[in-house]
Amino acid sequence: MEDFADLFTKLIDASRNHENYRDSECINMIASEGLKSPAVREMQAFASDLEGRYAEGENDPEGHVKKRYYQGQKYMMLIEDYATDLMKSLFKCTWADVRIVSGTHANLATFKGLSLAAKNRKMVVTPLSCGAHISHDYTGLSGNVLGLENINHVYNIDEFNIDVDRSIDVIRAAKPGIVTFGGSLFLFPHPIKELKEVCDEVGAYVAYDASHVLGLIAGGVFQDPLREGADFITSSTHKTFPGPQGGVIMGNPSTQRLAKAVKKIQFAVFPLSTSSTHLGRLPALGVAALEMKLFGTELARQIVKNAQTAGQYLCENGVKVLCSAKGFTRSHQLAVDVCNFGGGKKVAQDLEDANIILNKNLLPYDNQDDRDNPSGLRIGFQDVTRRGFKEGDIKHLCDLMVSVMKAKRKPSEVKEDVIALKKEFKQVKYGFQNVEEAVEYVKKA
Ligand SMILES: Cc1ncc(COP(=O)(O)O)c(C=O)c1O
Repeated sequence: MEDFADLFTKLIDASRNHENYRDSECINMIASEGLKSPAVREMQAFASDLEGRYAEGENDPEGHVKKRYYQGQKYMMLIEDYATDLMKSLFKCTWADVRIVSGTHANLATFKGLSLAAKNRKMVVTPLSCGAHISHDYTGLSGNVLGLENINHVYNIDEFNIDVDRSIDVIRAAKPGIVTFGGSLFLFPHPIKELKEVCDEVGAYVAYDASHVLGLIAGGVFQDPLREGADFITSSTHKTFPGPQGGVIMGNPSTQRLAKAVKKIQFAVFPLSTSSTHLGRLPALGVAALEMKLFGTELARQIVKNAQTAGQYLCENGVKVLCSAKGFTRSHQLAVDVCNFGGGKKVAQDLEDANIILNKNLLPYDNQDDRDNPSGLRIGFQDVTRRGFKEGDIKHLCDLMVSVMKAKRKPSEVKEDVIALKKEFKQVKYGFQNVEEAVEYVKKA
Protein backbone atom coordinates (compact mmCIF):
# COMPACT_ATOMS: atom_id res chain seq x y z
CA MET A 1 0.00 0.00 0.00
CA GLU A 2 2.90 2.34 0.76
CA ASP A 3 4.11 2.23 -2.85
CA PHE A 4 0.58 2.65 -4.12
CA ALA A 5 -0.07 5.66 -1.85
CA ASP A 6 3.22 7.21 -2.96
CA LEU A 7 2.36 6.76 -6.63
CA PHE A 8 -1.12 8.16 -6.08
CA THR A 9 0.20 11.26 -4.30
CA LYS A 10 2.74 11.83 -7.05
CA LEU A 11 0.04 11.49 -9.69
CA ILE A 12 -2.15 14.11 -8.02
CA ASP A 13 0.80 16.44 -7.48
CA ALA A 14 1.95 16.12 -11.10
CA SER A 15 -1.59 16.79 -12.32
CA ARG A 16 -1.92 19.93 -10.18
CA ASN A 17 1.54 21.11 -11.17
CA HIS A 18 0.74 20.59 -14.83
CA GLU A 19 -2.40 22.74 -14.65
CA ASN A 20 -0.48 25.57 -13.06
CA TYR A 21 2.55 25.22 -15.37
CA ARG A 22 0.88 25.14 -18.76
CA ASP A 23 -2.25 27.13 -17.94
CA SER A 24 -0.77 29.90 -15.79
CA GLU A 25 2.97 30.07 -16.37
CA CYS A 26 3.65 29.13 -20.00
CA ILE A 27 2.94 30.77 -23.31
CA ASN A 28 1.60 27.97 -25.49
CA MET A 29 2.46 28.01 -29.17
CA ILE A 30 2.06 24.37 -30.20
CA ALA A 31 0.11 24.66 -33.43
CA SER A 32 -1.94 21.50 -32.88
CA GLU A 33 -3.34 22.46 -29.50
CA GLY A 34 -6.45 24.45 -28.65
CA LEU A 35 -7.61 26.71 -25.85
CA LYS A 36 -11.06 26.09 -24.44
CA SER A 37 -13.15 28.87 -22.91
CA PRO A 38 -14.29 28.65 -19.28
CA ALA A 39 -17.81 27.91 -20.60
CA VAL A 40 -16.57 24.91 -22.61
CA ARG A 41 -14.66 23.66 -19.56
CA GLU A 42 -17.68 24.14 -17.33
CA MET A 43 -19.87 22.19 -19.74
CA GLN A 44 -17.34 19.35 -19.80
CA ALA A 45 -17.40 19.15 -15.99
CA PHE A 46 -21.19 19.38 -15.95
CA ALA A 47 -21.58 16.47 -18.38
CA SER A 48 -19.77 14.02 -16.15
CA ASP A 49 -22.54 11.40 -16.12
CA LEU A 50 -22.39 11.22 -19.92
CA GLU A 51 -18.69 10.40 -19.62
CA GLY A 52 -19.61 6.97 -18.35
CA ARG A 53 -22.36 6.06 -20.81
CA TYR A 54 -22.52 4.01 -23.97
CA ALA A 55 -24.48 4.76 -27.14
CA GLU A 56 -23.60 2.04 -29.62
CA GLY A 57 -25.69 1.92 -32.74
CA GLU A 58 -26.46 3.21 -36.22
CA ASN A 59 -27.12 6.72 -37.51
CA ASP A 60 -29.34 7.83 -40.39
CA PRO A 61 -28.30 9.58 -43.65
CA GLU A 62 -28.51 13.04 -41.98
CA GLY A 63 -26.21 11.92 -39.19
CA HIS A 64 -28.95 11.63 -36.58
CA VAL A 65 -29.38 8.73 -34.21
CA LYS A 66 -31.27 5.89 -35.90
CA LYS A 67 -30.91 2.92 -33.59
CA ARG A 68 -29.26 2.37 -30.21
CA TYR A 69 -28.67 -0.98 -28.58
CA TYR A 70 -28.90 -0.01 -24.88
CA GLN A 71 -31.70 1.43 -22.75
CA GLY A 72 -31.57 4.80 -21.01
CA GLN A 73 -30.85 6.78 -24.16
CA LYS A 74 -33.72 9.27 -24.33
CA TYR A 75 -31.63 12.37 -23.57
CA MET A 76 -28.40 10.98 -25.00
CA MET A 77 -30.03 10.66 -28.42
CA LEU A 78 -31.14 14.28 -28.25
CA ILE A 79 -27.69 15.44 -27.12
CA GLU A 80 -26.01 13.67 -30.04
CA ASP A 81 -28.57 14.98 -32.54
CA TYR A 82 -28.32 18.58 -31.29
CA ALA A 83 -24.51 18.52 -31.33
CA THR A 84 -24.64 17.08 -34.86
CA ASP A 85 -27.06 19.78 -36.01
CA LEU A 86 -25.00 22.60 -34.49
CA MET A 87 -21.92 21.39 -36.39
CA LYS A 88 -23.95 20.97 -39.60
CA SER A 89 -25.32 24.47 -39.27
CA LEU A 90 -21.94 26.04 -38.48
CA PHE A 91 -20.20 24.35 -41.40
CA LYS A 92 -23.18 24.57 -43.80
CA CYS A 93 -23.42 20.88 -44.56
CA THR A 94 -26.14 18.25 -44.56
CA TRP A 95 -24.34 15.41 -42.84
CA ALA A 96 -22.02 15.16 -39.84
CA ASP A 97 -20.82 12.41 -37.56
CA VAL A 98 -19.83 13.51 -34.06
CA ARG A 99 -19.30 10.01 -32.67
CA ILE A 100 -15.68 10.40 -33.69
CA VAL A 101 -13.26 10.64 -30.76
CA SER A 102 -10.24 12.25 -32.49
CA GLY A 103 -8.85 13.51 -35.77
CA THR A 104 -7.01 10.25 -36.34
CA HIS A 105 -10.27 8.39 -35.76
CA ALA A 106 -11.98 10.70 -38.30
CA ASN A 107 -9.33 9.72 -40.83
CA LEU A 108 -9.56 6.04 -39.93
CA ALA A 109 -13.33 5.93 -40.46
CA THR A 110 -13.28 8.11 -43.56
CA PHE A 111 -10.38 6.42 -45.33
CA LYS A 112 -11.78 2.99 -44.47
CA GLY A 113 -15.32 3.92 -45.55
CA LEU A 114 -14.19 5.57 -48.77
CA SER A 115 -11.91 2.66 -49.61
CA LEU A 116 -14.95 0.37 -49.31
CA ALA A 117 -16.98 2.66 -51.57
CA ALA A 118 -14.18 3.35 -54.07
CA LYS A 119 -13.12 1.24 -56.99
CA ASN A 120 -9.62 0.63 -55.65
CA ARG A 121 -7.43 1.07 -52.57
CA LYS A 122 -5.16 3.77 -53.93
CA MET A 123 -5.02 7.11 -52.13
CA VAL A 124 -3.17 10.23 -53.25
CA VAL A 125 -1.77 12.17 -50.28
CA THR A 126 0.53 15.07 -49.51
CA PRO A 127 4.02 13.73 -48.75
CA LEU A 128 4.69 13.30 -45.04
CA SER A 129 7.85 15.38 -45.42
CA CYS A 130 5.74 18.27 -46.71
CA GLY A 131 3.29 18.50 -43.86
CA ALA A 132 0.83 15.57 -44.12
CA HIS A 133 -0.22 13.89 -40.89
CA ILE A 134 1.17 10.43 -40.14
CA SER A 135 -2.39 9.02 -40.41
CA HIS A 136 -2.37 9.94 -44.14
CA ASP A 137 0.84 8.06 -44.77
CA TYR A 138 1.73 4.49 -45.66
CA THR A 139 4.03 4.36 -42.59
CA GLY A 140 1.03 5.16 -40.37
CA LEU A 141 -2.69 4.50 -40.29
CA SER A 142 -3.28 4.64 -44.02
CA GLY A 143 -0.73 2.02 -44.99
CA ASN A 144 0.05 0.04 -41.87
CA VAL A 145 -3.48 -0.21 -40.49
CA LEU A 146 -5.77 0.16 -43.50
CA GLY A 147 -3.47 -1.32 -46.13
CA LEU A 148 -4.05 1.52 -48.58
CA GLU A 149 -1.57 2.13 -51.35
CA ASN A 150 -0.26 5.70 -51.03
CA ILE A 151 0.79 7.82 -53.97
CA ASN A 152 2.16 11.29 -53.25
CA HIS A 153 0.93 14.58 -54.63
CA VAL A 154 3.86 16.41 -56.18
CA TYR A 155 4.82 19.16 -53.76
CA ASN A 156 6.48 22.47 -54.60
CA ILE A 157 8.73 23.28 -51.65
CA ASP A 158 9.25 26.92 -52.69
CA GLU A 159 5.51 27.50 -52.86
CA PHE A 160 4.95 25.33 -49.76
CA ASN A 161 2.03 23.78 -51.56
CA ILE A 162 0.85 20.99 -53.82
CA ASP A 163 2.06 21.42 -57.41
CA VAL A 164 -1.21 21.56 -59.35
CA ASP A 165 -0.05 20.65 -62.87
CA ARG A 166 2.19 17.79 -61.82
CA SER A 167 -0.37 16.43 -59.36
CA ILE A 168 -2.99 16.42 -62.13
CA ASP A 169 -0.65 14.10 -64.02
CA VAL A 170 -0.15 11.90 -60.94
CA ILE A 171 -3.90 11.59 -60.29
CA ARG A 172 -4.67 10.97 -63.96
CA ALA A 173 -2.05 8.21 -64.15
CA ALA A 174 -2.82 6.53 -60.79
CA LYS A 175 -6.63 6.77 -60.98
CA PRO A 176 -6.92 6.58 -57.16
CA GLY A 177 -10.13 5.90 -55.25
CA ILE A 178 -9.35 8.73 -52.78
CA VAL A 179 -7.49 12.03 -53.02
CA THR A 180 -6.67 13.84 -49.78
CA PHE A 181 -5.78 17.40 -48.86
CA GLY A 182 -4.88 19.10 -45.59
CA GLY A 183 -2.07 18.56 -43.14
CA SER A 184 -0.17 19.29 -39.98
CA LEU A 185 2.40 21.76 -41.28
CA PHE A 186 -0.17 23.73 -43.20
CA LEU A 187 0.53 27.33 -44.20
CA PHE A 188 -1.47 27.91 -47.38
CA PRO A 189 -4.84 26.69 -48.66
CA HIS A 190 -4.56 23.51 -50.70
CA PRO A 191 -5.68 23.58 -54.36
CA ILE A 192 -8.90 21.59 -54.06
CA LYS A 193 -10.71 23.65 -56.73
CA GLU A 194 -7.84 23.22 -59.16
CA LEU A 195 -7.69 19.43 -58.69
CA LYS A 196 -11.41 18.73 -58.40
CA GLU A 197 -11.90 18.24 -62.13
CA VAL A 198 -9.28 15.52 -62.44
CA CYS A 199 -10.59 13.85 -59.26
CA ASP A 200 -14.05 13.74 -60.88
CA GLU A 201 -12.54 12.52 -64.15
CA VAL A 202 -10.95 9.47 -62.45
CA GLY A 203 -13.85 8.96 -60.02
CA ALA A 204 -11.88 9.71 -56.84
CA TYR A 205 -13.50 10.76 -53.58
CA VAL A 206 -11.99 13.93 -52.15
CA ALA A 207 -11.24 14.05 -48.41
CA TYR A 208 -9.88 17.14 -46.67
CA ASP A 209 -8.23 16.87 -43.26
CA ALA A 210 -9.18 20.13 -41.55
CA SER A 211 -7.83 19.18 -38.11
CA HIS A 212 -5.50 22.16 -37.91
CA VAL A 213 -7.64 24.75 -39.61
CA LEU A 214 -11.22 23.90 -38.60
CA GLY A 215 -11.54 27.03 -36.47
CA LEU A 216 -10.26 29.16 -39.33
CA ILE A 217 -12.78 27.57 -41.68
CA ALA A 218 -15.55 28.20 -39.14
CA GLY A 219 -14.45 31.83 -39.09
CA GLY A 220 -14.60 32.07 -42.89
CA VAL A 221 -10.89 32.46 -43.49
CA PHE A 222 -8.22 30.19 -45.04
CA GLN A 223 -10.46 28.14 -47.34
CA ASP A 224 -13.92 26.60 -47.59
CA PRO A 225 -13.24 22.96 -48.51
CA LEU A 226 -16.83 21.79 -48.93
CA ARG A 227 -17.59 24.62 -51.38
CA GLU A 228 -14.27 24.16 -53.20
CA GLY A 229 -14.82 20.51 -54.02
CA ALA A 230 -14.06 18.34 -50.99
CA ASP A 231 -16.61 15.56 -50.56
CA PHE A 232 -15.76 15.12 -46.89
CA ILE A 233 -13.99 17.02 -44.13
CA THR A 234 -12.28 15.05 -41.39
CA SER A 235 -11.15 16.87 -38.28
CA SER A 236 -10.15 17.11 -34.67
CA THR A 237 -12.31 19.48 -32.64
CA HIS A 238 -9.58 20.85 -30.38
CA LYS A 239 -6.97 22.75 -32.36
CA THR A 240 -7.95 26.09 -33.94
CA PHE A 241 -11.52 24.91 -33.31
CA PRO A 242 -11.47 25.41 -29.54
CA GLY A 243 -13.66 22.55 -28.39
CA PRO A 244 -13.11 19.49 -26.24
CA GLN A 245 -10.73 16.82 -27.52
CA GLY A 246 -12.69 14.88 -30.11
CA GLY A 247 -13.34 14.51 -33.81
CA VAL A 248 -15.90 15.03 -36.53
CA ILE A 249 -16.57 14.09 -40.15
CA MET A 250 -18.78 16.31 -42.31
CA GLY A 251 -20.05 16.41 -45.88
CA ASN A 252 -22.77 17.35 -48.30
CA PRO A 253 -23.81 13.99 -49.74
CA SER A 254 -26.05 15.32 -52.52
CA THR A 255 -25.64 12.40 -54.96
CA GLN A 256 -26.27 8.65 -54.73
CA ARG A 257 -22.56 8.05 -54.99
CA LEU A 258 -21.86 10.28 -51.96
CA ALA A 259 -24.80 8.84 -50.03
CA LYS A 260 -23.27 5.40 -50.58
CA ALA A 261 -19.95 6.72 -49.28
CA VAL A 262 -21.67 8.10 -46.14
CA LYS A 263 -23.13 4.65 -45.45
CA LYS A 264 -19.70 3.06 -45.73
CA ILE A 265 -18.13 5.72 -43.48
CA GLN A 266 -20.90 5.22 -40.92
CA PHE A 267 -20.22 1.48 -41.04
CA ALA A 268 -16.55 2.23 -40.48
CA VAL A 269 -17.55 4.31 -37.42
CA PHE A 270 -19.88 1.67 -36.01
CA PRO A 271 -19.38 -1.23 -35.69
CA LEU A 272 -15.86 -1.14 -37.13
CA SER A 273 -14.11 1.45 -34.96
CA THR A 274 -16.20 2.55 -31.97
CA SER A 275 -17.82 1.14 -28.95
CA SER A 276 -17.86 4.03 -26.48
CA THR A 277 -18.15 7.30 -28.39
CA HIS A 278 -17.04 9.51 -25.44
CA LEU A 279 -20.37 11.33 -25.24
CA GLY A 280 -19.30 13.59 -22.39
CA ARG A 281 -17.63 15.95 -24.86
CA LEU A 282 -20.75 16.63 -26.94
CA PRO A 283 -22.43 19.39 -24.87
CA ALA A 284 -19.07 21.20 -24.72
CA LEU A 285 -18.68 20.76 -28.47
CA GLY A 286 -21.99 22.59 -28.85
CA VAL A 287 -20.76 25.46 -26.66
CA ALA A 288 -17.59 25.75 -28.79
CA ALA A 289 -19.73 25.71 -31.95
CA LEU A 290 -21.82 28.61 -30.59
CA GLU A 291 -18.67 30.56 -29.71
CA MET A 292 -17.32 30.06 -33.22
CA LYS A 293 -20.66 31.06 -34.74
CA LEU A 294 -20.62 34.32 -32.76
CA PHE A 295 -16.93 35.20 -32.47
CA GLY A 296 -15.24 32.86 -34.96
CA THR A 297 -14.70 35.38 -37.73
CA GLU A 298 -13.08 37.96 -35.47
CA LEU A 299 -10.97 35.29 -33.78
CA ALA A 300 -9.83 33.61 -37.00
CA ARG A 301 -8.89 36.93 -38.63
CA GLN A 302 -6.84 37.97 -35.61
CA ILE A 303 -5.10 34.57 -35.44
CA VAL A 304 -3.92 34.90 -39.05
CA LYS A 305 -2.99 38.58 -38.56
CA ASN A 306 -0.94 37.66 -35.48
CA ALA A 307 0.84 34.82 -37.31
CA GLN A 308 1.66 37.13 -40.24
CA THR A 309 2.81 39.91 -37.90
CA ALA A 310 5.15 37.47 -36.15
CA GLY A 311 6.45 36.24 -39.53
CA GLN A 312 7.33 39.76 -40.62
CA TYR A 313 8.79 40.81 -37.27
CA LEU A 314 10.91 37.68 -36.76
CA CYS A 315 12.18 38.07 -40.31
CA GLU A 316 13.12 41.73 -39.70
CA ASN A 317 15.02 40.52 -36.63
CA GLY A 318 17.20 38.07 -38.48
CA VAL A 319 15.14 34.88 -38.14
CA LYS A 320 14.59 32.79 -41.26
CA VAL A 321 10.82 32.45 -41.53
CA LEU A 322 9.79 30.35 -44.52
CA CYS A 323 7.70 31.72 -47.37
CA SER A 324 8.49 35.42 -46.93
CA ALA A 325 7.62 36.03 -50.60
CA LYS A 326 4.13 34.69 -49.94
CA GLY A 327 3.49 36.69 -46.76
CA PHE A 328 4.70 33.80 -44.53
CA THR A 329 1.34 32.16 -43.92
CA ARG A 330 -2.41 32.29 -44.36
CA SER A 331 -3.09 29.99 -41.42
CA HIS A 332 -2.37 30.01 -37.68
CA GLN A 333 1.14 28.64 -38.18
CA LEU A 334 4.62 29.72 -39.12
CA ALA A 335 7.45 27.45 -40.27
CA VAL A 336 10.82 28.76 -39.14
CA ASP A 337 14.31 27.54 -40.02
CA VAL A 338 16.54 27.89 -36.95
CA CYS A 339 19.65 26.11 -38.27
CA ASN A 340 21.65 29.28 -37.63
CA PHE A 341 20.74 29.16 -33.96
CA GLY A 342 21.61 25.49 -33.32
CA GLY A 343 18.64 23.71 -34.94
CA GLY A 344 15.06 22.97 -33.98
CA LYS A 345 15.78 20.63 -31.10
CA LYS A 346 18.07 23.07 -29.27
CA VAL A 347 15.94 26.13 -29.85
CA ALA A 348 12.69 24.39 -28.83
CA GLN A 349 14.37 23.23 -25.61
CA ASP A 350 15.83 26.68 -24.87
CA LEU A 351 12.41 28.23 -25.42
CA GLU A 352 10.84 25.62 -23.15
CA ASP A 353 13.35 26.64 -20.50
CA ALA A 354 11.95 30.15 -20.95
CA ASN A 355 8.37 28.77 -20.61
CA ILE A 356 7.57 29.33 -24.30
CA ILE A 357 6.21 26.01 -25.52
CA LEU A 358 6.36 25.08 -29.21
CA ASN A 359 7.61 22.16 -31.24
CA LYS A 360 10.65 21.38 -33.30
CA ASN A 361 9.73 20.36 -36.82
CA LEU A 362 11.36 18.69 -39.78
CA LEU A 363 11.18 20.98 -42.78
CA PRO A 364 10.51 19.58 -46.26
CA TYR A 365 14.17 19.89 -47.29
CA ASP A 366 15.52 18.16 -44.12
CA ASN A 367 16.80 14.60 -44.03
CA GLN A 368 13.52 12.98 -43.00
CA ASP A 369 15.28 10.05 -41.33
CA ASP A 370 17.09 12.34 -38.93
CA ARG A 371 14.03 13.11 -36.83
CA ASP A 372 16.12 14.23 -33.88
CA ASN A 373 17.85 17.00 -35.81
CA PRO A 374 15.20 19.03 -37.55
CA SER A 375 16.17 22.46 -38.78
CA GLY A 376 12.80 23.92 -38.02
CA LEU A 377 10.17 25.04 -35.59
CA ARG A 378 6.42 25.13 -36.11
CA ILE A 379 4.79 27.99 -34.24
CA GLY A 380 1.04 28.33 -33.67
CA PHE A 381 -0.77 31.54 -32.77
CA GLN A 382 -4.27 30.31 -31.92
CA ASP A 383 -3.71 30.12 -28.16
CA VAL A 384 -2.08 33.53 -27.66
CA THR A 385 -4.70 35.13 -29.91
CA ARG A 386 -7.52 33.70 -27.84
CA ARG A 387 -5.75 35.06 -24.77
CA GLY A 388 -6.11 38.51 -26.33
CA PHE A 389 -2.68 39.11 -27.90
CA LYS A 390 -2.77 41.79 -30.60
CA GLU A 391 0.01 42.79 -32.99
CA GLY A 392 2.00 44.83 -30.41
CA ASP A 393 1.89 41.98 -27.87
CA ILE A 394 3.01 39.56 -30.57
CA LYS A 395 6.06 41.71 -31.32
CA HIS A 396 6.92 41.83 -27.62
CA LEU A 397 6.64 38.02 -27.47
CA CYS A 398 8.83 37.73 -30.57
CA ASP A 399 11.45 39.94 -28.86
CA LEU A 400 11.54 37.48 -25.97
CA MET A 401 11.85 34.54 -28.38
CA VAL A 402 14.61 36.17 -30.41
CA SER A 403 16.58 37.01 -27.28
CA VAL A 404 16.61 33.30 -26.43
CA MET A 405 17.30 32.12 -30.00
CA LYS A 406 20.25 34.49 -30.34
CA ALA A 407 21.45 33.65 -26.80
CA LYS A 408 21.32 37.32 -25.86
CA ARG A 409 19.57 36.45 -22.62
CA LYS A 410 19.48 33.29 -20.52
CA PRO A 411 16.24 31.29 -20.82
CA SER A 412 15.89 31.32 -17.03
CA GLU A 413 15.90 35.14 -17.10
CA VAL A 414 13.40 35.34 -19.96
CA LYS A 415 11.17 32.89 -18.10
CA GLU A 416 10.46 35.54 -15.46
CA ASP A 417 9.26 37.93 -18.20
CA VAL A 418 7.16 35.19 -19.78
CA ILE A 419 5.42 34.41 -16.48
CA ALA A 420 4.74 38.12 -15.98
CA LEU A 421 3.43 38.46 -19.54
CA LYS A 422 1.15 35.46 -19.10
CA LYS A 423 -0.33 37.06 -15.97
CA GLU A 424 -1.52 39.98 -18.14
CA PHE A 425 -3.42 37.59 -20.42
CA LYS A 426 -5.24 35.34 -17.99
CA GLN A 427 -8.68 35.59 -19.58
CA VAL A 428 -9.86 33.61 -22.57
CA LYS A 429 -11.47 35.96 -25.12
CA TYR A 430 -13.84 35.35 -28.04
CA GLY A 431 -15.95 33.04 -25.89
CA PHE A 432 -18.09 32.83 -22.78
CA GLN A 433 -16.92 32.89 -19.19
CA ASN A 434 -19.62 30.43 -18.13
CA VAL A 435 -22.51 28.43 -19.57
CA GLU A 436 -25.16 30.74 -18.09
CA GLU A 437 -23.64 33.68 -19.96
CA ALA A 438 -23.90 31.70 -23.22
CA VAL A 439 -27.52 30.73 -22.48
CA GLU A 440 -28.46 34.35 -21.66
CA TYR A 441 -26.70 35.61 -24.80
CA VAL A 442 -28.64 33.22 -26.99
CA LYS A 443 -31.95 34.08 -25.32
CA LYS A 444 -31.42 37.76 -26.10
CA ALA A 445 -30.17 37.18 -29.65
C1 LIG B 1 -3.66 17.07 -40.01
C2 LIG B 1 -3.90 16.25 -38.79
N1 LIG B 1 -4.79 15.27 -38.84
C3 LIG B 1 -5.06 14.50 -37.77
C4 LIG B 1 -4.41 14.72 -36.58
C5 LIG B 1 -4.69 13.83 -35.43
O1 LIG B 1 -5.61 14.41 -34.60
P1 LIG B 1 -5.95 13.78 -33.19
O2 LIG B 1 -4.81 14.13 -32.32
O3 LIG B 1 -7.22 14.46 -32.82
O4 LIG B 1 -6.09 12.31 -33.38
C6 LIG B 1 -3.46 15.73 -36.46
C7 LIG B 1 -2.78 15.97 -35.18
O5 LIG B 1 -2.19 16.96 -34.90
C8 LIG B 1 -3.19 16.51 -37.61
O6 LIG B 1 -2.28 17.47 -37.57
